[in-house]
Amino acid sequence: MTNETSDRTLGNGHPDPANIVIFGATGDLTKRKLVPALARMYRARLIHPLSRIIGVAHNMEQDAWVAMVRTALETFAADLAFTSEEWEGFAARLHLVCGDLAEEATYTRVAETLAPLDGRVNVMFYLAIPPDWYARVAQSLGSANLADESQGYRRIVVEKPFGLDWASAVELNRQLQGIFRESQIYRIDHYLGKESVQNLFVFRFGNSILEPLWNRNYIDHVQISVTETLGIEYRAAYYEEAGALRDMIQSHMMQVMTLVAMEPPGEYTADAVRDEKVKVMRSIRPIQPGNVDQVAVASQYGSGTIAGQPVPAYVKEPGVAPDSVKETFAAVRFYIDNWRWQGVPFVLWYGKRLQKRASEIVIRFRQPPHNLFDPDGEPPVADALVFRLQPDEGMFLRMNAKVPGLTTKMRRLVMRGPYASATEPLVEAYETLLYDVLQGDATLFSRADEIEASWKMLGPILEVWNKRLSIDRYRAGSWDVPDVERLFEGCVGGWHKPT
Ligand code: BG6
Repeated sequence: MTNETSDRTLGNGHPDPANIVIFGATGDLTKRKLVPALARMYRARLIHPLSRIIGVAHNMEQDAWVAMVRTALETFAADLAFTSEEWEGFAARLHLVCGDLAEEATYTRVAETLAPLDGRVNVMFYLAIPPDWYARVAQSLGSANLADESQGYRRIVVEKPFGLDWASAVELNRQLQGIFRESQIYRIDHYLGKESVQNLFVFRFGNSILEPLWNRNYIDHVQISVTETLGIEYRAAYYEEAGALRDMIQSHMMQVMTLVAMEPPGEYTADAVRDEKVKVMRSIRPIQPGNVDQVAVASQYGSGTIAGQPVPAYVKEPGVAPDSVKETFAAVRFYIDNWRWQGVPFVLWYGKRLQKRASEIVIRFRQPPHNLFDPDGEPPVADALVFRLQPDEGMFLRMNAKVPGLTTKMRRLVMRGPYASATEPLVEAYETLLYDVLQGDATLFSRADEIEASWKMLGPILEVWNKRLSIDRYRAGSWDVPDVERLFEGCVGGWHKPT
């Protein structure tokens, strides 16, 4: 173990120095997300300047890895534009342990590379590796005595997908918890790190005008959508196994749903918040296998045009089976059986290669009970509160207003509230989440029981969809997904596509 001198220039509240160990140091996640986030944090002094970033990879040497990190920064964080002095400082924090994940000697070398920093050997292990390695690496860390906290904290960050279904998630939890305590395990869901998602907490519980309206008496239904124009890119192997339901609905989108539906926690602490989220998960009305076709829709992109360019069908993407029936679009209508939400549909829908990229939460209010201004006409288009999570983060309140002039006809008035101004750049999700791990704050991470509950809810859909022999297709670049409208039956205003 090497020793480094103390730097006491940081104020209170900055994380203590740590050894940040990345398994999968040459992988895509490391290049696209982790390295840019750590570099930004280094500049903003959100990681202690004594902290060390230790990559673990086989078939690579220190110099080549440092060069890889530099290229990753130039490619995925071009705006950062480190000065040569900053780069030298950051590069001096990088250490590579060359070794195979399957070999015990690798973990011994990791242990030897850990440094006491300010007298403690704090370690964050980040598993940026394929999911079937999570348990094995955790076990090897345990065998090398690397989960032991006697010299400093030991925290392990586990990426999604966390399991492939309820049984595998339970088993993975069991294996991880056999080595690390629950409080050492950080199951990351990058949606929870997005500022616009965190703002939901503040918007709901930092204002008092919403609470009286936030229930079945005033809200007709809720739509949560994530739409993308990208296809599966380079991830055919993963996607052929996962599909849209596992990739997005089980994780990011059910997490967002719990934030919309949860009761106010007694305090803003990891367990108080997660207790409330779990209560929502457990109140979701179980879906019966015989009912799946009524409450869920799957579809797959065919060929089409995005931004004027022709794009291939999913089944023509490199690495995808030509007869694949995996869904690239998934939608589910949930009900939450509790006092607040009884009878209010929550429709979650997600797709790749749709017409537009956007993530939204639409809270659709009930229609006025009586059409005062045109008793024989159509009821007015109902009002809605829309949270735009990305891009153009912000809120819109849609209300009915009078058309100017000698009339009482109504039209829609939209009040817009951008979340941040141009001079307030949003912090990237991975920066927030890495910072929280270094601070030991698990509020934005999923607990074992939350993940298990979400998998349990989706079990019947997975079971039915796994047996599927064919799938409907939609034209890439369109909203023409067959059969979705029926999930919005009875919902005021119907299916809302982002505009
Ligand atoms: C990932 C999914 O977790 O989230 C991807 O695996 C998806 O398929 C991505 O594209 C969406 O994240 P964001 O932050 O771009 O909305």
